[in-house]
Amino acid sequence: MAKTTRELGLFLPPEKERQLRELEGLEAEQQSRVRRRMMFRWMGWGAVAVLLGQWSIGFLSFFTPKRLGAFGGTVVAGAISDFKVGDVKQVRDGKFYLTRVPEGFMALYWKCPHLGCTVPWAPQDPAMPGPPDGGDQAYTDKGRFKCPCHGSIYNRYGQIIQGPAPRPMDHFPIKFDAQGRVTVDTGPSKAISRPVATLDDVTPPPS
Ligand code: FES
Repeated sequence: MAKTTRELGLFLPPEKERQLRELEGLEAEQQSRVRRRMMFRWMGWGAVAVLLGQWSIGFLSFFTPKRLGAFGGTVVAGAISDFKVGDVKQVRDGKFYLTRVPEGFMALYWKCPHLGCTVPWAPQDPAMPGPPDGGDQAYTDKGRFKCPCHGSIYNRYGQIIQGPAPRPMDHFPIKFDAQGRVTVDTGPSKAISRPVATLDDVTPPPS
């Protein structure tokens, strides 16, 4: 608070003193208005900067090629000829299991569709029935996926057999390259979910 003219040892007639006070009040109000305006202006520029930053990240990630051989990109799972019916291979880089079923290949995302735990393969456990058709029991007697968190159990097609999971394990698209290798498109956006496992989910090898 500014000192009064009396406090400063000056004398002004009361009317002048009052006018002086009014002027000081107006000036203070004007300054606070300017400060508020500046603050809103900076907030506006901040919001624009955040939007621009987000847009640039989206733009760059859209035009930047995905890393090869890592989750989020294309991962080579092995040569077609390396697999026989019933085999299950964990491919850590792509976070999936490549399963060889009689009809072809499946790449099962290892994230449990219940609450997201990583589902391990239990090769010594008993094989599971279908769907589709007779499931794994139609061609083998060992192996199943069993989630350690709440006990969901899946067969080699990813079909949920038992437990709280609401649907089969998701799977990734598979292709075969010119060198006879199995390649898998990975990443959360590539995961395909389904209400029930069918033979349409299986990618047959080239004949
Ligand atoms: S997270 Fe797998 S059963 Fe719950």
